[in-house]
Amino acid sequence: MEYRLIEISQLKADQIQRLALLHDSVMHTLLSDLGLPFVWRYYQIARADPNVVGFCAISSSGEVIGWAMGSPHPDRITSQLRSPLLWFSLQMLRITLTRPIVLWQLISSVFSLSGPEGVKEGAIELTYIGVAKHQKGRGLGKTLLSAFIEESRARQYRSVLLSVERENLAAISLYEKEGFQVIATFSEGRYQRHRMELTLA
Ligand SMILES: CC(C)(COP(=O)(O)OP(=O)(O)OC[C@H]1O[C@@H](n2cnc3c(N)ncnc32)[C@H](O)[C@@H]1OP(=O)(O)O)[C@@H](O)C(=O)NCCC(=O)NCCS
Repeated sequence: MEYRLIEISQLKADQIQRLALLHDSVMHTLLSDLGLPFVWRYYQIARADPNVVGFCAISSSGEVIGWAMGSPHPDRITSQLRSPLLWFSLQMLRITLTRPIVLWQLISSVFSLSGPEGVKEGAIELTYIGVAKHQKGRGLGKTLLSAFIEESRARQYRSVLLSVERENLAAISLYEKEGFQVIATFSEGRYQRHRMELTLA
């Protein structure tokens, strides 16, 4: 399938919406558990953040088929999810009424976090990478990861950091082939994760 890579900062509103839907369908993390409104808001915030490095693969028919994104300050994106306060309060009420287990996951991830210790100076965090189910295994993940690494190098970051679930063997294999190494293992809520790093020359 033919596609082009577009920087996340250049995505139009409808493409951001499609990216949120793709995230929701392939990425099983706490952000997805919080629901589509949070995922959508997350990418709206990321698009406006000049520190974000991110690429989206758009097919010739306009479908969002993959993406990779990260930031030296990933916590600044998530902290903005708490505003506007009225919107956030309504979302938390929705979750409390419809999916109380997610609230428990949120609380337990805050209290059981044994790492990582943030993003060190000069490093950038790869926060998300994903490919549409029907596009897996065709080299798109590798292309997106390479684009992310090259842009991070161009912006003079010294290393790329990421966290990945220990059972996610496809992603770990992808990262190892690009030269990432496991530097720690930690638990976060119900997840067991590896911390991996790639030093940029
Ligand atoms: C991880 C992911 C992005 C890989 O994307 P992809 O386009 O399928 O990967 P590629 O076709 O570019 O493959 C690149 C390498 O990844 C590894 N890989 C991909 N799929 C794999 C699988 N099913 N099993 C084992 N290794 C796999 C291989 O090392 C592969 O290299 P090879 O082709 O030389 O064997 C994709 O599986 C995905 O979207 N997963 C769900 C979201 C996710 O888990 N993201 C990572 C969160 S940390």
